[in-house]
Amino acid sequence: MENLPLEITSAERNFYGNRLILLEGVIEEFLSCLQMIRRYQTGRGRRDPIASFQARIKSAESMKAKLKRQNLPITADSALQDVWDAAGVRLVCPFVQNIDQTVSLIRQILGVQILREKDYIRNPKPNGYRSYHMILSLPLRFLEKAPERPVWLEIQLRTIAMDCWASIEHQLKYKQDIVNQALIVQELKRCADEIASTDLSLQTIRELIETPPEQKGAIL
Ligand code: GTP
Ligand code: MG
Repeated sequence: MENLPLEITSAERNFYGNRLILLEGVIEEFLSCLQMIRRYQTGRGRRDPIASFQARIKSAESMKAKLKRQNLPITADSALQDVWDAAGVRLVCPFVQNIDQTVSLIRQILGVQILREKDYIRNPKPNGYRSYHMILSLPLRFLEKAPERPVWLEIQLRTIAMDCWASIEHQLKYKQDIVNQALIVQELKRCADEIASTDLSLQTIRELIETPPEQKGAIL
């Protein structure tokens, strides 16, 4: 797994200033833990729980807009303390079960501090959105002095199917001039529910394939 080139322009450098290194740091630390988690799983003969991942620092433009919406000072300090998704990593897993496994391994990372977890898989949003969200911070090695406050990182864990729905729904949100809004919302919700049921079927298929023959009766 290579390190990611994070997309950082002069707008982010200007806005986050010397806080940028903290955001980059927390992402790097998490990705290095993630690499260990993946190796640990595959080393035990299990499949890699991660199909793909993305990491990003929230663009200066959308961070400023968010601070403004929430009536917060438009400063880097506020972006790091009051908003918890200045740094974000999205983990896309093949199966729902990989999400539970990965969440419990993330909770065991040495020195991790978990601020909040939201299980939109067992409790989907009314629009059908499903993902597992965690806000956490990690000790930042290699800094001369530990930061005064934790540097928060938002982790989103989804299956490939959930990610497909969320990406399309996100694209559609930007279309403002939709006539039959209610129908669209209802249809998107129906797709999300169908996707959730497909995810369960896929997991059952995997169990049927991978369970040793003597245990198969238990699933069937
Ligand atoms: P913000 O939405 O970030 O202001 O914070 P929050 O406290 O409401 O957090 P929440 O856990 O609800 O959502 C955080 C992130 O999850 C969002 O920034 C999106 O990336 C993603 N997300 C949440 N809801 C939806 C949704 O309905 N559709 C899509 N596509 N993404 C969503
Ligand atoms: Mg939200």
